[in-house]
Amino acid sequence: MTTDASNRPKLGKVFLVGAGPGDPELLTLKAYRVLQAAEVVLYDRLVSPEIMTLLPESATQVYVGKRRADHSVPQTDIGQLLVDYALKGKFTVRLKGGDPFIFGRGGEELEQLAAAEIPFEVIPGITAASGCAASAGIPLTHRDYSQSVRFITGHLQDGSINLDWEALRSPNQTLVFYMGLVGLTTIAATMISMGRSPDTPLAVIEKGTTPQEKIHISSLANVEDLLATTVISAPTLIIIGDVVKLHALLAKS
Ligand SMILES: C[S@@+](CC[C@H](N)C(=O)[O-])C[C@H]1O[C@@H](n2cnc3c(N)ncnc32)[C@H](O)[C@@H]1O
Repeated sequence: MTTDASNRPKLGKVFLVGAGPGDPELLTLKAYRVLQAAEVVLYDRLVSPEIMTLLPESATQVYVGKRRADHSVPQTDIGQLLVDYALKGKFTVRLKGGDPFIFGRGGEELEQLAAAEIPFEVIPGITAASGCAASAGIPLTHRDYSQSVRFITGHLQDGSINLDWEALRSPNQTLVFYMGLVGLTTIAATMISMGRSPDTPLAVIEKGTTPQEKIHISSLANVEDLLATTVISAPTLIIIGDVVKLHALLAKS
């Protein structure tokens, strides 16, 4: 443990790092450099095994979850662990799938660090929407089809789906649902009932950017059929909107 002149232990710094959607090549250089220097790494289920192999052998690895509805380590305990390691002077990395500030609860962890006056730095990652869209050849905006894009969580804390449906009606926008598979039938049916065309195409991208990636193309009207006839595994990202038509032309060969 390092100490300063007053013999107090020197504070460690916490790096909140985005690991991207799975493909290790999608890590930023900065994230890669920080991982190589890590003494302690707290990581989530969505961090790919290939990325974990980049850690130094000496780094302590702490798995903190989480699967849907199974929060292995409660959120406040994760924040407290970060504080404790930093107080011990450790170079600590909090490694999260995608980008820590997009449905990653990164803000909550930083609030705990700020309250304890622990130094921290955020290193952004490629969010699942960007990674999956690139991999599937689906531009999220396009001058002919979509002038805006919304990132939406399809999973609410109490299990219900209570979205601003009125705002989702406009045809000239792309909707990207994170954690949306369980509620997809309800989402599609409600969007149709609110006036969005049943022919609106959608893509369900399974394990995007990984060797197990699968892309399922359907439409609002045909979602039930898709889910009844196909086994789809998490994590999945759902893209809804006319930009999905471009997949046929732009999917990588
Ligand atoms: C808790 S959110 C975390 C999002 C993450 N912070 C990000 O920026 O991508 C987890 C959800 O992200 C989506 N997701 C993450 N990685 C994915 C991948 N490789 N393929 C498809 N969806 C993914 C899924 O919807 C998953 O349920």
